[in-house]
Amino acid sequence: MTDKPNAPASGRNRQPILDVLEIELRDCGSVLEIGSGTGQHAVFFAEAMPWLSWQTSDLAENHPGIRSWIADARLPNVRDPMLLDVEQAKGVIGEFDGVFSANTAHIMSMPGVRCMFDVAGRVLSDSGVFCLYGPFNQDGEFSSDSNKDFDRSLRSQDSVMGIRNLEDLDDFADGSMMQRERLYAMPANNLLAVWRKQGMQKENDDS
Ligand SMILES: C[S@@+](CC[C@H](N)C(=O)[O-])C[C@H]1O[C@@H](n2cnc3c(N)ncnc32)[C@H](O)[C@@H]1O
Repeated sequence: MTDKPNAPASGRNRQPILDVLEIELRDCGSVLEIGSGTGQHAVFFAEAMPWLSWQTSDLAENHPGIRSWIADARLPNVRDPMLLDVEQAKGVIGEFDGVFSANTAHIMSMPGVRCMFDVAGRVLSDSGVFCLYGPFNQDGEFSSDSNKDFDRSLRSQDSVMGIRNLEDLDDFADGSMMQRERLYAMPANNLLAVWRKQGMQKENDDS
């Protein structure tokens, strides 16, 4: 057993997230996770959803930790991390039926969040889904005092970080040919939003 990084929140939120992903990713074969962090979510979700090929990714600094979780898990369906900084990603980096990311939108800058939606839109196959978990505001309102405090704490650490408005994320999605399909209320005042990539419009000869 190697000395693996541990994010306690990941242990608390993984089952409620899995309950949603089992529904949203049931028809997917391949998933790209953006910002895998420790890698804990990746091995938990890959083990629970053996029909998926789970591609981890993150900035280089997190790769050793992700690799150590993957090595210990010995699963056939979770892939070593891809180097992916959404702000640097260019060209074709793969094609996936699903994209998943947790707790990243409030860490990335707003231009970075736009880049994340751009990456999701580019890698998703037609009708693929982007599932994004985290704390979000709706209509510019915090969903709780604790989220308001969390936002203040983030901005005091780095002014580019902060809890995002769901409506802004919908605009980014729209610009990347995705439409929001569902919104799940999650424990601890979090949300899980699901956007679906719109396939190319088929000509309707009958109309
Ligand atoms: C709060 S952690 C969340 C980690 C994990 N998803 C979780 O829920 O435990 C934020 C993650 O976003 C990643 N991240 C930040 N900026 C990024 C960028 N520009 N491109 C890709 N990942 C980024 C960080 O490296 C980190 O792994």
